Amino acid sequence: MSKIGIGFIGCGGIHRAHAPHVVEHPDAFIACAMDVNEEAVKKHQADYGTECGTTSMEELLARDDVDAVVVCTPTGYHPDAVIAAARAGKHVLCEKPMAMTVAKCEEMAAACDEAGVQLQLAFVRHYCNEWLKMREVIHDGMIGRPVVWRSVSGGSGAPTPWFFDKELGGGPFIDGAVHNYDWARFTFGEAERICANLRRLKQTTTAWDTGTAVVDFESGDQLIMCWSWGLPGFGSTVRADGAHDVLGPGGAIMFPGDGKLSVRLEDGEHLVEFEPDTGADWFRRQMAHFIECVQTGRQPQVGAREGIEATRIAETILNIGDRPGVVEL
Ligand SMILES: NC(=O)c1ccc[n+]([C@@H]2O[C@H](COP(=O)([O-])OP(=O)(O)OC[C@H]3O[C@@H](n4cnc5c(N)ncnc54)[C@H](O)[C@@H]3O)[C@@H](O)[C@H]2O)c1
Repeated sequence: MSKIGIGFIGCGGIHRAHAPHVVEHPDAFIACAMDVNEEAVKKHQADYGTECGTTSMEELLARDDVDAVVVCTPTGYHPDAVIAAARAGKHVLCEKPMAMTVAKCEEMAAACDEAGVQLQLAFVRHYCNEWLKMREVIHDGMIGRPVVWRSVSGGSGAPTPWFFDKELGGGPFIDGAVHNYDWARFTFGEAERICANLRRLKQTTTAWDTGTAVVDFESGDQLIMCWSWGLPGFGSTVRADGAHDVLGPGGAIMFPGDGKLSVRLEDGEHLVEFEPDTGADWFRRQMAHFIECVQTGRQPQVGAREGIEATRIAETILNIGDRPGVVEL
């Protein structure tokens, strides 16, 4: 079987989490890299030894040796890249969030369906042992149901300005928090009601950077997010990767931990171990799954549906904005 040729569309920060796992994969290679910024293309080529580099997406998509693409552009540009790739017959691994609106996500999903290409969403927590263990502890009933998952994050947020642009990145309540919406759906099932109240601490940006959102699920479980990316650049007020607990009628889970989940029950603390892994492991497993799906035609574990439903929660929260209200989904 010939090797799967992968093209990168967007060669910024997150593409560096993916690219090494194509290079090291025995059944794949990087066929071409594209970015609108020529310097980013050159840096990619120097770092990963990719012969083909271009600033033209059309040129990349016209290549026969590109079987599949990884879309790593700013979120607002995901739809153009995914739809063009699908029409060119290329399978797609698309970074999260899928797009800024459900309508755009649906266009992307339809284009991939029509072209008969795979669409995988890069919700990398699905390959992380700690997140999988958190879900398992909840499903095992160790702390009872329904639960309230509280998520707190506070810092200056993402490194490049587009993340704070309303149209391109949308700020933390879509960009970072979409991981939580996806994980909550994966763990609890469908969302049914949302309330939110957002703010803008940074006066220079157009996206909401701070606020609170409460998502109720049909199961009775709840996700409460109290997040900010609106602070000056001194780092985070809590752990850099946020602070989480899950409260249930029989106890609580606290994480992230140091290789263990702390589960507090009436009789004291129980440390639940999981096999320690790193971000590189998650991204490696995710890429291996994508390559396997392209090879076999198997549907990806995390696809358009996950992208659409997580975006639905995000879009609803952003639309509520600073006019607090309750929206039934
Ligand atoms: N999975 C994760 O945990 C995770 C982490 C960070 C970012 N992301 C997502 O990955 C995507 C990219 O984020 P990033 O951190 O790499 O951003 P970045 O700003 O570091 O890189 C984006 C790159 O895209 C290029 N670009 C801009 N417009 C383009 C276009 N139209 N076509 C091709 N290239 C274009 C830019 O020149 C830049 O090199 C976003 O959707 C972001 O939300 C996911």
